[in-house]
Amino acid sequence: MERTLSLIKPDGVQKKLTGEIIKRFENEGITIVAMKKVHLTQKQAEGFYAVHRERPFFNSLTKFMTSGPIIAMVLEGENVIAKNRKLMGATNYKEAEEGTIRREFATDIEKNVVHGSDAPETAAFEIAYFFNNLEITG
Ligand code: CMP
Repeated sequence: MERTLSLIKPDGVQKKLTGEIIKRFENEGITIVAMKKVHLTQKQAEGFYAVHRERPFFNSLTKFMTSGPIIAMVLEGENVIAKNRKLMGATNYKEAEEGTIRREFATDIEKNVVHGSDAPETAAFEIAYFFNNLEITG
């Protein structure tokens, strides 16, 4: 069993894609073991994306991530990190496979609807960034 962090970004929440995205997770047998809606401050967005702080898109990305509420979820399942990344599709929606969330709903490399942890170490950091142990059901 593995866990990963999934975020529905401000564009996804604004377009009312939350139910659609959750349905895709559940159809794949993934279990949501924690979920909350939050509106990040600039500092919180910068902390979450700290690994990207030297990238040219950092300021724009963190501003976008604070532009509206997001949904944070902890997903659980076998190989859930890879499974979630397959459901999301490539970061750049133009390169994402047909039928993936980003291919279908993203409008921009930045406004790409969802975020998912890319490895067990980042999943551990990202889950702890949003949830404490009491908020995650077994
Ligand atoms: P995400 O998977 O959340 O990880 C970093 C985010 O930065 C990415 O999705 C995009 O929303 C955003 N981003 C903007 N421009 C780029 C870029 N050129 N390459 C990668 N990520 C980008």
